[in-house]
Amino acid sequence: MKKYKLIYFGFTHCPDICPEELEKITKIVDKIDSTRLYKSYLIPIFVTCDPERDTPEAINEYLSDFSQKIIGLTGSKEEIEKVTKQFRVYNRKSVIGGSDSNDYLIDHSIYIYFVDPDGICIDVFGKNKDAEQCANYVLEHIKNKK
Ligand code: NI
Repeated sequence: MKKYKLIYFGFTHCPDICPEELEKITKIVDKIDSTRLYKSYLIPIFVTCDPERDTPEAINEYLSDFSQKIIGLTGSKEEIEKVTKQFRVYNRKSVIGGSDSNDYLIDHSIYIYFVDPDGICIDVFGKNKDAEQCANYVLEHIKNKK
């Protein structure tokens, strides 16, 4: 079966943007899965931009609040830097705490990448598209390229 992917970059300490986007991703995937024909065609992936704090355990626990379907990924600082560069994801640490260097946020771009089974990025979904619109777009694409 051909697997398409939705790839999103964020971090588990993100106060509001990432939760919103992960809810959106969950809605998109649930909508695709609700079609009998294309169930499991779309794999949602969350990649952290905060490998220092986001251990695999922390990511799994965080994602369990949204959907069991989302695959969480982290890596070394260098690996994350490489992949965010490849996807042109803007991400920059902003320290908010005083002396506590572990108290920071990460400014990051907010895009959901729609990637086809060959690894080609077909489109990116910004905040201007809601879950319904994204799901319809994905469904149209899968139907036409099947
Ligand atoms: Ni975020």
